[in-house]
Amino acid sequence: MSQSRRPLIAGNWKMYKNRAEAKAFVEELAQQTSAEAFGTVDLAVACSFTLLDTVKATAEATQAPLHVAAQTMEHRQEGAYTGEVSPRMLAELDLYGVVLGHSERRQYFNENDEALKAKVAAALEAKLVPIFCLGETLEQREAGSTDQIVLHQLNVALEGLAPEQLARVVVAYEPVWAIGTGKVCDSDEANRVCALIRGALAKLADEATAQQIRILYGGSMKPENAEELLAKSDIDGGLIGGASLKVDSFLAIAEAGAKLAKAANACSV
Ligand code: PGA
Repeated sequence: MSQSRRPLIAGNWKMYKNRAEAKAFVEELAQQTSAEAFGTVDLAVACSFTLLDTVKATAEATQAPLHVAAQTMEHRQEGAYTGEVSPRMLAELDLYGVVLGHSERRQYFNENDEALKAKVAAALEAKLVPIFCLGETLEQREAGSTDQIVLHQLNVALEGLAPEQLARVVVAYEPVWAIGTGKVCDSDEANRVCALIRGALAKLADEATAQQIRILYGGSMKPENAEELLAKSDIDGGLIGGASLKVDSFLAIAEAGAKLAKAANACSV
């Protein structure tokens, strides 16, 4: 965590919760916290399309300090694409952003780097923050190709963007083998890959822009390991699956982020 970047603690609810459960989560969150308590961090949840309206409306009604994001998106604005949801449809809901390139989308729904390039650009155009995910599989890590895979995914999706567009992108490093497995990546190693990503972003834009871009870690982040991960210099937040489904564990991670951010800000004064 660095004092120059505002941390983002983002839950990824995947295909969990119905509307009543989503509403109850936001109401409980609002009861347990306030915008003041989280003045130093951004909180967000990414949920299914059918929950977006409910979560957004409940957060507004209860003043819960919570941004709302979608979990995927088609890049075209409209047309004969049965079943898809377009950038303008999401923008109409006044959302914060959209998760793009999650490994489950890549694995089960054939999202590839080229398609993701179009989606990232479309999200930016629709004024949505793209939370762009990348990361290696266990096989790729064991073969020693982690850096090459991560850099390839990053460069294909983000090259060609102007520095001011890149500055609005959030990158989430999620080693696939750590997602939903309880096997968290070693914090030094996670930080090394996040620093590698920042170096590549500096080449795509410039050093000052790379220093502004938030890079999250995701993969079995939990209250027990969040502080250690979030304390690292190039990790600016988390993308949290399982532990974001309950208010207690989500808030415990957010509190670790808020505490570190306050400490970082105090050091800079
Ligand atoms: P996990 O999921 O925290 O349950 O490992 C992370 C993610 O899929 O973004």
